[in-house]
Amino acid sequence: MDLQKYIKEKGARVDRALDRLIPKERVKPATIHKAMRYSIFAGGKRMRPILCLAAGEACGGSIEDAMPLACAVECIHTYSLIHDDLPCMDDDDFRRGRPTSHKVFGEGIAVLAGDALLTIAFEMVAGSWAKSRYPHAALIGELALAAGSLNLIAGQVADLEGEGNHLGLADLRFIHERKTAALIRSSLRLGGMSANAPAGRLKALSDFGLALGLAFQIIDDILDVTQTSEHLGKSAGKDVKAQKSTYPALLGLAGAQREADRWTRRALEALKPFGGRGGTLRAIADHLLKRTN
Ligand code: IPE
Ligand code: IPE
Ligand code: MG
Ligand code: MG
Ligand code: MG
Repeated sequence: MDLQKYIKEKGARVDRALDRLIPKERVKPATIHKAMRYSIFAGGKRMRPILCLAAGEACGGSIEDAMPLACAVECIHTYSLIHDDLPCMDDDDFRRGRPTSHKVFGEGIAVLAGDALLTIAFEMVAGSWAKSRYPHAALIGELALAAGSLNLIAGQVADLEGEGNHLGLADLRFIHERKTAALIRSSLRLGGMSANAPAGRLKALSDFGLALGLAFQIIDDILDVTQTSEHLGKSAGKDVKAQKSTYPALLGLAGAQREADRWTRRALEALKPFGGRGGTLRAIADHLLKRTN
């Protein structure tokens, strides 16, 4: 399959759907809608929504049914980046190739743009087409669990509290699993739920998503060390500066790369039950391991 073409096409469809679902810039109060759109249309890779759509397809569903859920996870992800960049968090000036939200709109509006993107995500899920096995309560519960204080927020808290401490591998895994892997896993599960996938298939998607998400964050940590800010579209070298515990800090670059390879292999194994239908997800996992931004 032509994965580049798939990513380009599906990414463009996600952009069109987000443009329909998020209030236009002129809608009052214009500042908040400008700020929401500034960050969401800044040129992210759209990997979570694309994984959601691909999981729906792998389970025999349609792009249309998965799309509102795909948009919802991208809104949650973008909110988490706006808040992650705030001076009280990672204090970053540069994101998705642009100045960060608080640099352009000020901290108050950046906090509120994050809040608004988090909230609209649930509106998008409520407006989606639920399936017999998965009513709206199940879809909303799935996303809330991934975004809440047991997962994404838990990881961000542990990440902040870990600054300046030498964490061991178990603590680092706790952080990566929650701050990054949980939302990736949920993106895949929601795609499966939009296709009415049975529990066994969701379990396979969960196993795939957890392993893929851990590999994804290890690669993010590696790229922070090996790439330039221009290439990444976000400031590089900031993990060392902020004294974050990372896989490269703990295992060296080669050791971290081996861990990313290992988690990608485990992710691919989890796709076995899908047979030929898992081809796109397999290709995405390979692509994410080799990414350079
Ligand atoms: C960055 O995510 C934050 C992490 C969880 C590592 P992405 O690398 O997917 O960022 P965008 O969406 O492409 O900007
Ligand atoms: C971000 O992790 C995780 C979330 C936003 C939930 P990082 O702090 O490593 O992400 P970048 O490097 O700023 O994109
Ligand atoms: Mg962070
Ligand atoms: Mg950060
Ligand atoms: Mg990072």
